[in-house]
Amino acid sequence: MANSLFVLRVCLVAALGGLLFGYDTAVIAGAIGFLQARFDLSPTMVGWVASSAIWGCVAGVAFAGYLSDQFGRKKALLLTAFLFTISGIATALPNSLSLFILARFVGGLAIGAASMLSPLYIAEIAPPHIRGRLVTLYQLAIVIGINLIYYVNMQIAAMGDQAWNTQTGWRIMLGSETIPAILFGILLFFVPESPRWLIKQGKIGQALDILKAVNGTQQAESIREQIRESLEKKTGTFSDLFAPGLRKALSIGVVLALFSQITGINAIIYFAPEIFKRIGFSADSAFMQTFLIGIINTIFTIVALWLVDWQGRRKLLLWGVAGMTICLGVVGYCFYFSLLSGPWLLIAILAYIACFASSLGPIPWIIISEIFPTQTRGVAMSVATGMVWVGVLLITQFTPILLDSVGGAYLFWIFMGNSIVLFLFTLKNIPETKNLTLEEIEQQWK
Ligand code: GLC
Repeated sequence: MANSLFVLRVCLVAALGGLLFGYDTAVIAGAIGFLQARFDLSPTMVGWVASSAIWGCVAGVAFAGYLSDQFGRKKALLLTAFLFTISGIATALPNSLSLFILARFVGGLAIGAASMLSPLYIAEIAPPHIRGRLVTLYQLAIVIGINLIYYVNMQIAAMGDQAWNTQTGWRIMLGSETIPAILFGILLFFVPESPRWLIKQGKIGQALDILKAVNGTQQAESIREQIRESLEKKTGTFSDLFAPGLRKALSIGVVLALFSQITGINAIIYFAPEIFKRIGFSADSAFMQTFLIGIINTIFTIVALWLVDWQGRRKLLLWGVAGMTICLGVVGYCFYFSLLSGPWLLIAILAYIACFASSLGPIPWIIISEIFPTQTRGVAMSVATGMVWVGVLLITQFTPILLDSVGGAYLFWIFMGNSIVLFLFTLKNIPETKNLTLEEIEQQWK
């Protein structure tokens, strides 16, 4: 008998990697002002402190694929939880800036690793008909993590005055990461290893037990056979990724990862309060807008959860990206004609978030975790997911500069141009993968 509660439980634990990803990337937004005062930072140093974790992400994602292929998905996830815990403690203690940056870099290693390992693990264990939903849980966890730390930061900041926050508040903000990190580490002991990785290691019996628990006895045998056949084919080296068939899968992964970032989501999520303040909103209403963005992001990720295995990845992506394109056009238009105080700017931004959350938020994670063969999935996902972090670096680096130089209108029109490119790419290149086993998807690259 297939046991859906068992699958759900296991995938929820893995999705906690997403919660930590959201929590640990967004924590800096609330702490940076106090860190600036504590360490007397120049604007350039503020940039370095804010991006130190992201550099760690690029490094973390690079080693995680290899580690997960060599030592297993579960051990790699456990190492990630350990690094999350260490960095939570280490970022709360330092009295020197370089130690703080180092601790954030270690946190980045964990975020980068989790960003590929959690969806990879979920996709490898999930039954095909709900795989999209289960990976979307991971994206939902990212969004909840972001919202949660915004709330936690606000509560901590309200506990004392500026002087207290400069001395102590930021330490509690960063230190609070250890709570979800330890929980993640403990719960991971109770999930099984990925059945696909076990078969790759020749541990067929153990894998079959897990496949039976997930898919039911009848299905389990045939899925095991598919996995074994797929593994027998001579794939497995890094250069295989560039062979004609897989090259297409790799290009889809890379484009989706990069464009999920350079169509502007984090320019809005990370910089929304700043953008709203510049337009002339008070700090209070800037906070209200940020709060609204979080709510819409959560609600529409749940919409994706409902639609993704039913309507399919491709259709959802095309509709969502088309909607994002229109909204970005309107946001640019509002900036260009200085229509900033009316409702249209806010409506367009919220509609953009809704379109993103129901499509480009979860779908890249789903597709990247399902298009590569088991033999190369670890490394291939490292390469593709690495582009997410390159995209994050580009956005955090250039959004403030572009806002100052070309202004909001052209910034959002650049994102709109990227969005159009992504729409056309999807139309031409991305196949539907719903309901197929990972091995059936692999057949498409022949
Ligand atoms: C996706 C993006 C991430 C972003 C989040 C917001 O997971 O990859 O960068 O912050 O969505 O919902």
